[in-house]
Amino acid sequence: MAKILILGGTAWLGRTIADRALAAGHLVTCLARGEAGGLPEGAAAVVVDRDRPDAYAGVPAEHWDLVVELTRLPAHARAAVEALSHGARRWVFVSSCSAYADHSAADAREEAELLKPLESVQDYTPELYGEAKSGCEWLTMATRGNAALVVRPGLIGGPGDPSGRSTYWPLRLADRREPVLAPFQDGGGGRQHVQLIDVRDLAAFILDAGLAGRTGAVNAVGAAMPLQDVLVAAREAANANPRLVPYPLSAMKDDGVSPWSGPRSLPLVLPLGDDHAGFARRSDARALEWGLVRRPLVETFRDIIAADEPWAGRQLASGLSAGDEAALIAGRKPSNFAPAESATLPRRQPDQSRLG
Ligand SMILES: NC(=O)c1ccc[n+]([C@@H]2O[C@H](COP(=O)([O-])OP(=O)(O)OC[C@H]3O[C@@H](n4cnc5c(N)ncnc54)[C@H](OP(=O)(O)O)[C@@H]3O)[C@@H](O)[C@H]2O)c1
Repeated sequence: MAKILILGGTAWLGRTIADRALAAGHLVTCLARGEAGGLPEGAAAVVVDRDRPDAYAGVPAEHWDLVVELTRLPAHARAAVEALSHGARRWVFVSSCSAYADHSAADAREEAELLKPLESVQDYTPELYGEAKSGCEWLTMATRGNAALVVRPGLIGGPGDPSGRSTYWPLRLADRREPVLAPFQDGGGGRQHVQLIDVRDLAAFILDAGLAGRTGAVNAVGAAMPLQDVLVAAREAANANPRLVPYPLSAMKDDGVSPWSGPRSLPLVLPLGDDHAGFARRSDARALEWGLVRRPLVETFRDIIAADEPWAGRQLASGLSAGDEAALIAGRKPSNFAPAESATLPRRQPDQSRLG
């Protein structure tokens, strides 16, 4: 039984880590304000705003087998590691692949260059997320003399995803409304990929690698899959085979459709024009060597569908509303994917050939 302190624990990943640690019989304490959600049942709580100068005064003065830090603010990372490091045997900082400076090369490893670290005295804005994570990494490693594990997830997905990115396609296909507007990659750029790690597999890896005393940086990413295969997995999970309207990605800009995430977007689609050849294609070699176990994407999608309400035209945090989708479809002709794309789709089940 280990004593684990989670700096966070009220939001999606932090709570999943806490729940898993509690289920394994560990003693868990979570430090947060409680604004992102309630504290996990069974965990001890330190309810505090980390903006306060005395934020860590209420943390029990004991030995921690593991501290898991989830912040994106260098000021919070610095104050916490300075206040708590001496009592912590092992330390995990949850960073992000957004901390990397370059996304143009596939299979890049953990030694690739990072963005310029944001300093703890500099103001944070969401546009500086990558720099901020880079800054948190640097502060953590410098204070602990490199005796910390830096976990860099790529896209995190699964039931309860607050961003709506991983939930859009399985829920849309489970909805049974036809036809479905489906991305069709015309024009330039390399073939788009998705590297989605299930939040539960990530939580397990963070705990296992952290408690095992791993140190250094590791990409904690899903298996790299072409975007079209992700749609096939969503179709399989939904057990659906709807008519599709291929939507050329080159039309997004004129139609005011955003890539990747947010309202009126095509979730998981990358922006055209930038050099994203290596995006969602980070090396997973070290994580696999260190014991990362990943469930198949179709299983994640099935659990998303099982955990959620029917689509019913509601707007998720990311994706197209029923009205926006209908308006975009109106000018296009329902059909299967264009032949060049359909040739790339695996036929997983003989009765689901309309996508393939
Ligand atoms: N989603 C992705 O695809 C993705 C990809 C790569 C990396 N990541 C990283 O994965 C992690 C996700 O963590 P998460 O899901 O648990 O969500 P999160 O929103 O990043 O968690 C923030 C936690 O910090 C606490 N917090 C924020 N401000 C605070 C303050 N002033 N004082 C005290 N506590 C504060 C929040 O709790 P309260 O609000 O209750 O205080 C919450 O528990 C993050 O590190 C993120 O950067 C995410």
